[in-house]
Amino acid sequence: MVMNLGKKLFLIVLLIAFIFLMTTNTVSASTTDDPPNLFIAQLESSSDLGREFYVENCGSCHIPIPAEVLPTDAWQKILEQPRDHYGENLPKMVNITVGLIWNYLRSYSRPSLEGETTPEFVTNSRYFKALHPLVDLPKPSSHQSCKLCHPAAATLDYRSLTPEWDD
Ligand code: HEC
Ligand code: HEC
Repeated sequence: MVMNLGKKLFLIVLLIAFIFLMTTNTVSASTTDDPPNLFIAQLESSSDLGREFYVENCGSCHIPIPAEVLPTDAWQKILEQPRDHYGENLPKMVNITVGLIWNYLRSYSRPSLEGETTPEFVTNSRYFKALHPLVDLPKPSSHQSCKLCHPAAATLDYRSLTPEWDD
């Protein structure tokens, strides 16, 4: 459920905030100039951790599909229906893992527009198309075609491109 994921994330954030307060309480009282925002840094590192968990848990059967290419609601559905995953039953994940994965997915994706149908596949996703404005993509596109142009897709690196795309 949505609420559950949200609640878990909230608990993780609370925990991080608590640790943060415990460890920086004494220091922050004495500093006057702007200290680096450790709280934000902590939150970011929790979505980095999410990335690692994502590659491990969502990149074993197929390449890890980057958060940016589907809307947030599509990812939410996927995480809520592990028993009905494109005809597969996903191996069980512990709650904290799902929470961290969700943190990564929602930090790097955008919501659908009002009234838009949520795509299940990248090939129907407006965001996937928007990331490839000048690219002649295979039709239909699937996770199997990413590697043609993104040789490091298996490590969730979609910046690296095959030589013909380097300018
Ligand atoms: C047990 C193997 C398995 C695991 C683990 C797995 N998937 Fe999948 N996934 C599939 C299969 C099978 C398909 C259907 C596409 C295909 O034929 O390869 C699929 C398809 C997808 C698609 C649509 C891909 C497209 O081409 O448009 C997305 C998105 C996706 N999975 C996300 C995830 C996420 C997120 C996780 C982790 C929570 C995950 N998968 C873990 C087996 C798996
Ligand atoms: C025919 C080649 C081709 C295929 C196939 C392809 N891409 Fe791309 N992709 C590109 C190119 C070229 C860029 C850079 C576009 C630009 O900067 O205008 C890009 C950019 C991206 C980006 C943005 C990277 C960044 O952070 O700068 C993501 C994410 C991405 N692709 C994901 C995917 C996924 C997921 C698939 C498979 C479902 C896929 N691509 C299939 C060529 C391809």
